Parts: sequence; C-alpha cells; structure tokens
Amino acid sequence: MPRNSADLLIVGASEVLTLGGASHRPRTGAEMNELGIIKDGVVAIKGGLICDIGSLQKIYDKWSAPGIIHAEGRVVMPGFVDCHTHAVFAGSREIDFIKKIVRKSGREISAVPAYLEILKGGGGILETVAKTREASEERLMIYAAFWLNNMLKYGTTTVEIKSGYGLSFEDELKILFAIKKLRGSKMDIVSTFLGAHAFPPEKSREAYLKEIIDHMIPHIHVHELAKYCDVFCEAGAFSVEEAEKIIEIARVWGLKIKLHAGEFNDLGAVELGVKYGAVSIDHLDHISDSAILAMAEAETIGVLLPAVPFHLMTGHYAPARKMIDAGVPIALATDFNPGSAPTFSMQMVIALACRQMQMTPAEAITASTINAAHAIGMEEKVGSLEIGKQADIIILDIDNYLQLPYWFGGNLAREVIKKGVIVS
Ligand code: NIG
Ligand code: FE
Repeated sequence: MPRNSADLLIVGASEVLTLGGASHRPRTGAEMNELGIIKDGVVAIKGGLICDIGSLQKIYDKWSAPGIIHAEGRVVMPGFVDCHTHAVFAGSREIDFIKKIVRKSGREISAVPAYLEILKGGGGILETVAKTREASEERLMIYAAFWLNNMLKYGTTTVEIKSGYGLSFEDELKILFAIKKLRGSKMDIVSTFLGAHAFPPEKSREAYLKEIIDHMIPHIHVHELAKYCDVFCEAGAFSVEEAEKIIEIARVWGLKIKLHAGEFNDLGAVELGVKYGAVSIDHLDHISDSAILAMAEAETIGVLLPAVPFHLMTGHYAPARKMIDAGVPIALATDFNPGSAPTFSMQMVIALACRQMQMTPAEAITASTINAAHAIGMEEKVGSLEIGKQADIIILDIDNYLQLPYWFGGNLAREVIKKGVIVS
C-alpha cells in the first residue's frame, strides 16, 4: 500500500505523552494522572499540524516523510502552556529580593508581609510601573521578546501575557499593543488586560476605577487588545467590591474573566470569581474549604503559581492536594514578573509543584499542558498531541516522565518544535 507523505516524523521516543482525550474539558481528580502514554510512539506532522500519532508499526505503514527526528529514547510531549505571566515590563527588582533575604535571616523583623509593605511604600509593582512608563512600545517589545525566547528554549510554546505595569490609559494601551504585535512571533500569545493591578500614585481610587471602566475597557474592545480581564484582588490592591464593578463592565464588553485571588489574604474573591463565571482564579495560596468546593462545582480552573511563595519565601503554598481531591481542575504557570516570580521556566514550576504542593509528576504535567490550555481558551489548538492539533512538541533529555520534576534546576528541553518547525 503506498504511504501518505507527511513533512516530518518524530521517531524513537521512549514515551510519547499525548495528554489526549481532554480537549472538551480540563482534567480533574484522578484523571490528572492520565498522560495517554504511547511507548515507542511516533508523531507524524504535516503543514504544522499533527496528522497522525501512534505506534511505530501503525505510523510507518501509513506515512513517509522527508524529515525525520530521532528522539533516541527520550520523552516526547506537548510544549508547555504558560497560562499566567506579566512578561511585558521594564527593569528588575533584585533589591527587594535582597531585603527579603535580610528580613528572613532574622536581622530585621516585620509582622506585615514584606511584599505588600513594599507596595504600600510606593515600591514593588509601582517601581516597575515607573520604569515601564518610561520605556517606549518598541523597547518593551525588545525586552519581552528576550523573555519569550528564553521561555521557548525551556519548552514553553504558548503563553498568556497580562498588562498591568502601565496604570494609565496611554501606558496600559502601549503594553497591550506591544503584546498584540508580539503575537507575530514564534509563540502563540493570549492577551489579558490587568489595568486593575495596583492604584497609580497620581490619582484617587475613584478616578482610576472610572478610567478603567469608562475608557480602558471600551478601547480594549474596539482594538481587540485582550481576551481576558483580570483584577488583583488583595489588601492594598483592589477590594472585592471594586473588582466586581470592573468585572461587570468587562463582561458587557465581551471580555472573559480571570482573577488574582488569595495571594496573601483570602478576601472572598474566589466567591466573586465563581459568581461571575471566571474562567480561572489564580494564586490561591490562601483559600477556604468552602471556596474550594465552590470552584469544584463551577469547574473553575485554579491556576497555581508555586514560584511566587518560593521566591517571596512565604512558605505558604496553595493546597493543591485538597483542591485536586475536591475536583478543582488545576493548571500551573510561572507568573513570570520582576517582583514575585522572576522565572520563565515551566520546568522549575513543575519541580516546585511536586516538592512543595505534593502534586504527582503526572498531575503537574497535565496542569502545565492541557489544563493550562483550557485556562486560556487554547484547548482546541494546543496542550496535547492529537490529530489536527498544532505540532507544538518538546523532546526532553530524560527517558521517562518521572524524571521531569526529578532533575531540577536545569533545562531538559533538547528540541523545541513550534507548529512543526524546530525553533530551539
Ligand atoms: O501575580 N500580585 C500581583 N501581580 C504579580 C506580581 C507583580 C509584581 O510584583 O510586579 C503576581 O504576583
Ligand atoms: Fe500574576
């Protein structure tokens, strides 16, 4: 029988982790351990999409291709989906980090969480806002392209980016236009409006809320600058009442909802998110049992960000086990930003999720691929290796998936393939 011609075959994998069968809804509970492993599997790629996948015999009988990548006994899996980042900003905040080390060492004692204390004093997020306002759109794009390229090298092939370091009409729009233009790069990029990240120093709370509601959100709709609207609901940032006002308007203008909730305090923002049908609620280091149940019932995705408590040294991680056992669909992300999570590595996040939140390696992989794709509405295109989906694939320098969180701190991605093309 004549064989069909594909562009590229990936052969010789010890394990192909397909993550298949969950494009209609995110995996929950025990399903999060199902990776759909094909031992010695082969992936056939044509026109940037997966045209077939299966056992060596099945694929060889059907397909030939001019290009062949030999995985030489390594693990092949979908590219990571980093579903929560703040990757457009200027500057860095290593001084805050050093101060934190000093405080932690016991040489300075403070009862207030240091992160919020810094924000209150006009630093933290506001320090990054000042530097981001000074930077041109082009400059911000250059910085972000550098970070995105690093993400790609570490195996992330789809990313969500939030605005939020502008905090004025012009500067939030500048960031969102930068994100829009970056969409032409190698990565798939999903954009989120986070004008409600902090209050700018030069305006009253009421005036800034009005600016978000009356000017920013309608403009974002007109220029198709974002798919989601997010609010940082936290003591010292936006209250639940303020968040509700923003969410109501955002929904009217066709934006879907995400929330930053429970990063330092449980203000009841999870209940708000569930009430308004949020696609995901993120952070959740502080969450009540009843809020966990509400998320499970509503099938709201919990995006957990363990790089944050790790970097801020709070020791307070989201109760991932409780949430998975209750049936909350869990995704993982870096939260890449200069203040609370300066890492672009999903591999690092997976290593932390297993060690600090006792997620199994399989759960962490599901949370970083197909469930993360659901968290940004990309589940029909990415997050699993299935016929018709994008050929976004990584070949990892390990011979079984349990080693992904085990060897930590380095980069295990040997090859990164985006839409059928080797990009790293
Ligand atoms: O998700 N908490 C709010 N936003 C980011 C941090 C931003 C920053 O510190 O610059 C976060 O942790
Ligand atoms: Fe964040």
